[in-house]
Amino acid sequence: MKKVIVDDQMIDESAACINMFDRGYHFGDGVYEVIRVWDGELFAFDEHFNRFSKSATKIKIEIPYTKDDLKERICKLVKENNVQLGTVFFQLTRGVAPRIHEFPPGFTKPVFTAFTTESGILEKEQNDGVEVILTEDIRWLLCEIKSINLLPNVLAKQDAKSRGCFEAVFHRDGIVTEGALSNIFIIKDRKVITHPVSRLILNGITRQFVIQLAEENNIPMIQHEFGNDQMLSADEVFLTSTPWEVMPVIRVEEKIIGKGIPGTITRQLQMLFREKIVSNIRSSKQK
Ligand code: PDD
Repeated sequence: MKKVIVDDQMIDESAACINMFDRGYHFGDGVYEVIRVWDGELFAFDEHFNRFSKSATKIKIEIPYTKDDLKERICKLVKENNVQLGTVFFQLTRGVAPRIHEFPPGFTKPVFTAFTTESGILEKEQNDGVEVILTEDIRWLLCEIKSINLLPNVLAKQDAKSRGCFEAVFHRDGIVTEGALSNIFIIKDRKVITHPVSRLILNGITRQFVIQLAEENNIPMIQHEFGNDQMLSADEVFLTSTPWEVMPVIRVEEKIIGKGIPGTITRQLQMLFREKIVSNIRSSKQK
């Protein structure tokens, strides 16, 4: 039987239940992270923890653990479930309280929950590339917070799925921001461009690694806004996210990107990112 963590207790998945007065349930009042598990190890835990901590601070929830405490809990869960290749999801809500919009008065204990998944590499999609739709970004203006309140993302992804596509890409007034659950990059004349860090995107951990890898490997990388038309006429387009790594895009709406196959710079970054994962995991195993 798989284990999960509910309100800080590791229990059987079948025994897990959430208090219906949890503010996460009523208001989406919480933050979360998804970390890749490779060879039984967490990839980029520190980076994920830092973002988790920033997200929690921005919505004024205090994380009840130190970084090491949290890591220990997550690693124990991953080990217990014997996850080799997959993800670990964890979230922290403002806690259980009568339903009032403002923060509950006095101290409310935040509720920490976590579960693991066993999800492999999306080899076919990574090899062949995927198709995406373009949709209006109707989200709020604090997208840098990894909030569990994801309704616009859910609707956009469903729209993509119902149109036979892999992901929905958001644009705000014609400026491309990010995907429903990924960041997006375009390549034009060998220059890689992605939306700058701002309140309009989540600063993806994969995004940050890819930017760094491009810089280290002399691939020109610009963090600058780009428009829908620039994306449609790009030579290459790719998405990044924890479960998808570097995912080539071969069609946006009706427009075929480049030659309709993953481009060479995308392939190079895909390979560099995979090598980075493997080397990080190897060194964390040696610790
Ligand atoms: N989502 N942008 C959004 C809106 C996201 O939800 C995600 C990740 C990303 C990519 O971030 P990262 O590289 O740190 O995974 C960008 C996760 C995977 C999810 O919601 O399941």
